[in-house]
Formats: sequence, C-alpha cells, structure tokens
Amino acid sequence: GVFLLDDSGQWAVLRAGHGEAGKAMLTEKHKLKINGKSMVASAILSGEARIVLDVDEKTVHFQNPYLPLIRSEMALPLTVKEDVLGALTIQSEQPQAFSDNDIVALQALANQVAVAIRNAQLMQDLEKASQELLRSKTYEAIATTTGEAIHWVGNKAAPIAGSANRVREDLLNLLAVVQAWGDIPLRKRENHPFGRLMRQTWAIASSQGLDLPSKAATLSDFTEDRLSLMVNLESILEDLNIIQQSSSTILNIKEDLIGPMRQQNSTAVELPALLRETVAEMGLPAGVVQADYDNSLPPVTGDTRQIDRVFTNLIKNAWEAQEGQPNPQIHIQVARAEEPGFARVQIHDNGPGIPPDILEKIWVSFFTTKGDQGGTGLGLSACMSIIQQSGGKIWAESLPGEGATFIVLLPFIDEKNIE
Ligand SMILES: Nc1ncnc2c1ncn2[C@@H]1O[C@H](COP(=O)(O)OP(=O)(O)OP(=O)(O)O)[C@@H](O)[C@H]1O
Ligand SMILES: [Mg+2]
Repeated sequence: GVFLLDDSGQWAVLRAGHGEAGKAMLTEKHKLKINGKSMVASAILSGEARIVLDVDEKTVHFQNPYLPLIRSEMALPLTVKEDVLGALTIQSEQPQAFSDNDIVALQALANQVAVAIRNAQLMQDLEKASQELLRSKTYEAIATTTGEAIHWVGNKAAPIAGSANRVREDLLNLLAVVQAWGDIPLRKRENHPFGRLMRQTWAIASSQGLDLPSKAATLSDFTEDRLSLMVNLESILEDLNIIQQSSSTILNIKEDLIGPMRQQNSTAVELPALLRETVAEMGLPAGVVQADYDNSLPPVTGDTRQIDRVFTNLIKNAWEAQEGQPNPQIHIQVARAEEPGFARVQIHDNGPGIPPDILEKIWVSFFTTKGDQGGTGLGLSACMSIIQQSGGKIWAESLPGEGATFIVLLPFIDEKNIE
C-alpha cells in the first residue's frame, strides 16, 4: 500500500492499496497517527526502511485486522531529497520473505514512486495556481470596467447634494422676500428694490414658459386645502432631503467600490488623531462614542483617506446596529497589538451582535441584512480590501448578547523607510 502524509503532518493516510484488504482499508480511509508506534510512522519519522521478517517476534507491526496472516512486512519511506512524503508498505504471508537484494530493489522502486508522487502534487499545485491567476485576472478586468462606469456615475451624482442645498437656501430666501414684499405698502412698491426683484423674477419665469401673473390670478379661486397642497414647504424640504440622501448613497457606493482600487498613497498616519477627526466628522450624538486612545503609539503606515474610510464604515455599522436601542454605545480603543510591529484598533458596540452563521459572510461584497434600509453590503468588503492593501488585518468577533467587535491591525511605520 501507499501511505501519504496529510497536510497537518500528523497522519499517514492510505492512498493506494492492493487486494481485498487494501480496497477495504481504502474505503475505510485507513490512516495511522505519526507517533512512532507503527512501522509506517517509524519509517516516515526516521526516513529509513523498517523491515520485520517474522511479525510475531516484534512489537513494531501493523496490528491490522484485515491482514491477520502476515508474517513479513516492510515499510519503505517515500523520499524526495530530504522530504518524506509517506511510506510504501509491502506484506507477505511468508516469514523471511524478503532477501537483502529485494530490499535494495524495492527501496529503489519506492524512490521512483516518491518522485512520481511529488511530480503529481506539483502538477496539482500548478493547476490550482493557474486557476487562481485566471480568477484574479477576470476579476481585475471586471473591476476595471465597472470601476470606470462607477466613477462616471459617481461624478454625475457628486454635484447633486450641493445643488439641493442651494435650492433649499434659495427657496427660503424667496419665501422671506415674498413675506417682506407683502408687508410693503402698495404705494411704495413701485420703486422699492423688492419690486424690481419681483418684476425680474416674473420676467425670468415667463422666459421659462411660466406665466406667473395669470397663474396668480387663478389662485384666488383656490380653497385653503388646495393652496396648502400646492405650496407645502414641509414636503418640498423633505424632497430635497431625499435627493441629498440618494446622492450621498451613490457617492458612498462609489467610494466603497472604487476606493480600494485607487492608488494608495501611503504616509505616516497618527491613529488617535485620525479617529478623533473621523468621529467628529460623523456627527454622532454626544456620549455615544467612548474613546480610549494610547497617544504614545508610533504612527502606522497607510493611505489616510482609505483608512478613514475603514473607520467611518465600521463606526457607521456600529451605530446602525444599535438603531432604536435606548443607550447606544460605541467603544473605540487604540493600543499596541500583541503582534509585534502592529497597532490595534478595536471598535465595539452594544448592538445585537453578529450571528455565528453569518460571521464569515459579512465580508462578501453585497452581503447585507439591511437591504430594506438602503444598505448595499459594500462597507465591510471595502474595509477588507483596504486593510489588506495596507499590510494589516481585520476581523470581527461576536458573542451572542455581547454586541459586535471589529478589530483592525495596522503596521507601524518602518522608521528606516521614511525619507
Ligand atoms: N456592528 C455590527 N453589528 C451587527 N451586525 C453587523 C455589524 N457590522 C456589520 N454587520 C453585519 O454585516 C453586514 C454587512 O455590513 P456592510 O457594512 O458590509 O454592509 P451594510 O452595512 O449592510 O451596507 P453598507 O455599509 O453598504 O451601507 C450588515 O448588513 C450586518 O448584517
Ligand atoms: Mg455598513
């Protein structure tokens, strides 16, 4: 039979077997612990042939229920250079079945078998690597095309928020003018600056195809209800808010999707300062964030804008997880990591936590449990790519009922590399 070491190096697994016994053992996935007690283990550990010419005389044997009649057996290591891949075993029902010559010939055979096995393994590795390359190339091509499309959409959306803001302001100004205009006595209106403004406005409206004076004339017939439907400041402002939020969602999606693909401009990043800024920028209610920052840490290396994006996404998630909860809390900690050379940022919330069955899936693009609240499921996948590109690590921990904790490790800047 042929035994090969498994990936853990703890077991020799039967991979080929001869005869009835061999087949039966293969179906049972027969394996032997590498602890030196079996002949196979001892051949693998020592890298030397183990031979017993009368099984009953020795304690080192197969003790195999499938092979009760075996009297001679041999375990030959399968070695390529220094590497032991496993062992080849040969059994006989005859005592003293192998001569010295047999042993030499069989070991030569075993060496050839080992080379063949190693080649097959290398072939498998090569195939896997080429598949991975293909996958990543395909991904790259898709990413570039979608990246460009998203960039384009994002750029179109960028001015929307600003425009909505200006419309809101202009509208409120116009209302103020209308109010003031109403307060001006009729005889003073002709030469009043407001009067000129009104006439200008009407002229612009009419050039746009809107006949304001005629429209105004019809309004006198309107009931109060109809008027309040027509001029409803609340609903106008609400619409403006919707426009603004939609555009900020589009910009967020754009940033999550193409941010990580952007050229990373690595500089020294002071984590406590960056986090203070990120938190302030998010405008969370007072008392929600508790900061525990080690200000004596050396800077880490990374792209400030991208790292800020990571923390914004994580804090946003922590906040969203506690929506409707009475006392939302986000605990942010910056400290030295146990891993030498890394800073550790920990963001903990008091939300419902993350169920174990989705703890891995949350990192996948478009995985979201907030579909109905407009979540896109891109936040964490963006965090993952950014942190990986920065040479750091990110993961989540969550125990039922104890909220969720996201941990980010970032490498301290290598002082030697600063110019
Ligand atoms: N702090 C947290 N507590 C509980 N669940 C979380 C937390 N952070 C993330 N999750 C889970 O992981 C999922 C994916 O998070 P991710 O940030 O990628 O997307 P999202 O928040 O749903 O949408 P987006 O960030 O694009 O608005 C969330 O929908 C949620 O189920
Ligand atoms: Mg999110």
